[in-house]
Amino acid sequence: MIQNIIFDMGNVLISYEPKKYIEQFADKQDIDILYETIFQSIEWIQLDRGSIEEKEAKCIFYDKLPERLHMTVDDILNNWHENLHGKNEMFYLVKQLKSKGFNLYLLSNTSKRFYHYCKKIPALSYFDGMIISADELLLKPDLDIYRRLLDKYRLVPEECFFIDDYMLNVEAAIFLGMDGFVYKNNIKSLRRRLSRKGVLDKDLQAVIFDLDGILVSTDEMHYKAWNQLAEEIDIPFDSEKYREFRGVSRMKCLELLLDESKENYSDAEKAAMAKRKNDLYLKYLQSLSEENIYEGARELLEELQANGILTAVASSSKNAYAILEKTALLPLVDIVADGNEIAQSKPDPEVFKLAADKLGVPYESCVVIEDAKAGIQAAKSGNMRAIGVGQALKDCTEMDSYFPQIKQITLETLKRNKVH
Ligand code: G6P
Ligand code: MG
Repeated sequence: MIQNIIFDMGNVLISYEPKKYIEQFADKQDIDILYETIFQSIEWIQLDRGSIEEKEAKCIFYDKLPERLHMTVDDILNNWHENLHGKNEMFYLVKQLKSKGFNLYLLSNTSKRFYHYCKKIPALSYFDGMIISADELLLKPDLDIYRRLLDKYRLVPEECFFIDDYMLNVEAAIFLGMDGFVYKNNIKSLRRRLSRKGVLDKDLQAVIFDLDGILVSTDEMHYKAWNQLAEEIDIPFDSEKYREFRGVSRMKCLELLLDESKENYSDAEKAAMAKRKNDLYLKYLQSLSEENIYEGARELLEELQANGILTAVASSSKNAYAILEKTALLPLVDIVADGNEIAQSKPDPEVFKLAADKLGVPYESCVVIEDAKAGIQAAKSGNMRAIGVGQALKDCTEMDSYFPQIKQITLETLKRNKVH
């Protein structure tokens, strides 16, 4: 049974792009020479091994480069890591593994500079321990550096899973009895591998929530705004018609409304109508508060977060962030995908796929919770499990399971309803 996950850093937890770092400090024509002389040098490796001091390396770089570049060498050595940042998809994986109870370790070939920039990598806050090559005077794939990690934290190799972008480093881990994965920027294939290993649950890695009608009751506000617009332009509208509007983008809703009219409207007129509807809606949204959260919705988000299941909101709305902020739900979701980021609204799966892609979770490992038929269709065509909630879906046959209210859904029910 795997209990420990060991990560490499460069190109795994962070993207490592030396040429980009140099660009910040040097002119275009000098980038290649600086890259070769600094990042591709023996000295760079010696810095990683801890067998040379930075000031010695600097003198050697000075000797190899014209004097006009000496200041640039200083800049690069002191600041190359300035714009370094962690990979989001790895952050979510690390966070998930930690809350599922795994021990996490870093085993990195890197210089003592690491201590200047490690705070920039949020994923590291979840780690239980680390071995940095420069501190050990050893480099991967030397077996001894792996042994240092195993000894220091009393790890059993058979209980360790090692992730590195360099095949020889993974091979060394396997030689010592660990399992491993060569990571080539494909987070979904890593997650699939971890599922087969029993580390992650294949069917339930992320829950993607629709917003309007699932987490927050904004239905009446949307309805009142559309109703007022319909009156102003003298088009028939009622709650039966409004049913079709659920989960559908603002412009598409307007088209549905204008289907009831014989008039031909120009694009400019349509844009003005959509704006009018939104202005009316925003006025109603001002009174939105935590009171408008459906019973049980916050508790479900909290329960999922506490149990290592990622959470997302995927909504056709362009007001999603405003709603999540006003209801104080934003901190309870890992990511948001909204109407501003997509070209096709539900029933197209784009918004759900975007949410899953942001998290790095394979579609088949996502569960969608929806109150609109268009949303159920979107989830199914995105190869995700679809759970319907609310009266409007009572007779829908396309979803995998149904609950009248969100408060009836718990982690337990999500686990029980696994069949696709
Ligand atoms: C949600 C609602 C729809 C609404 C859409 C766009 O999906 O269920 O009824 O039309 O969002 O909302 P927006 O806030 O961008 O107008
Ligand atoms: Mg909805």
